[in-house]
Amino acid sequence: MKAIVFAKYGSPDLLQLKEVEKPVPQDNEVLIKIHASSVNPFDWRTMRAKPFFIRLQEGLLKPKNKRLGADFSGQIEAVGRKAKQFQPGDKVFGICSGAFAEYVCVNEDEIALQPAGATFEEAAALPIAAITALQGLRDKGQLQPGQQVLINGASGGVGTFAVQIAKSFGAEVTGVCSTKKLALVSSIGADHVIDYTKENFTQNGQCYDLIFDAAAYHSLSDYQRALSPQGVYVWIGGSLAMILKIMLSRSKKFTLLSAKKNKKDFNLLKELFETGQVKAVIDRSYPLREVAEAIRYLEAGKARGKVVITVEHNSK
Ligand SMILES: NC(=O)c1ccc[n+]([C@@H]2O[C@H](COP(=O)([O-])OP(=O)(O)OC[C@H]3O[C@@H](n4cnc5c(N)ncnc54)[C@H](OP(=O)(O)O)[C@@H]3O)[C@@H](O)[C@H]2O)c1
Repeated sequence: MKAIVFAKYGSPDLLQLKEVEKPVPQDNEVLIKIHASSVNPFDWRTMRAKPFFIRLQEGLLKPKNKRLGADFSGQIEAVGRKAKQFQPGDKVFGICSGAFAEYVCVNEDEIALQPAGATFEEAAALPIAAITALQGLRDKGQLQPGQQVLINGASGGVGTFAVQIAKSFGAEVTGVCSTKKLALVSSIGADHVIDYTKENFTQNGQCYDLIFDAAAYHSLSDYQRALSPQGVYVWIGGSLAMILKIMLSRSKKFTLLSAKKNKKDFNLLKELFETGQVKAVIDRSYPLREVAEAIRYLEAGKARGKVVITVEHNSK
């Protein structure tokens, strides 16, 4: 089967589409024929080993795991001896290691049926980005109906889901993004939009019950000013220096999210999609052989919502 591999850390130029061994499911695993994947900042950070501490986990000098990609959707082709939850033919989605490939084996406890009515591309857009939005708003942010929430980075993969999920919780949502993407953020339900190239939301006198920050580039004191007295700030991404500042601050108002894959949450996202409360905003798709191009596009900050990879199976 074909898969994207990288032998050294570095630029997308180092990614290669190679023939690798097709995996065989262990007892509790299922073999999935991948139809689509999507690109996340996690992929290019792993590819570049950026920040440096990624090497502590992924391999100091070169990647221990040479495969890339995490989000996937596809169809079950075979099930392991003890796997009981799925049948061959079921359409599933989830997060795994090495998803930029034609096949993967995944533990059946870590995946869910994809939403009814979703295309493979739409299902593949959900996993990391939507689960991050859900866990940030619900678990860290404790978002309640009627609250004022600000989504910073509202036009990106995580942000487009965060705007919609916050609306589904009954919040009043303000989305922050660049000029060209204001219409997109309004179109997915934001009640207010702020163009960060023209207005600094930390200095306009507004206060929020929750700031969900996928693009953290302000100071802690700026964020503090934009929070209501009981308000909470959730760091998702952006400046890594913020992680240290938040840890050192020891303030209960500031929290960090490290999203975790979770079958229950995949099922909740399935329901939100099926009831029309959440849709996937897909900017564009690339075939598997053009993963490098897809990563370049995402890294350049051009994407509106998600960048998807489609996997065709005509090259056996
Ligand atoms: N903590 C976790 O568990 C977790 C999980 C997933 C992702 N993340 C992180 O979350 C971040 C966002 O992920 P993503 O998938 O949404 O990435 P993405 O699709 O690349 O989106 C990033 C967004 O940031 C916005 N942005 C850039 N500079 C900004 C600024 N100064 N003010 C406001 N917005 C700004 C961009 O909007 P414009 O184009 O409009 O400028 C873009 O839409 C990344 O850093 C990623 O690593 C963390």
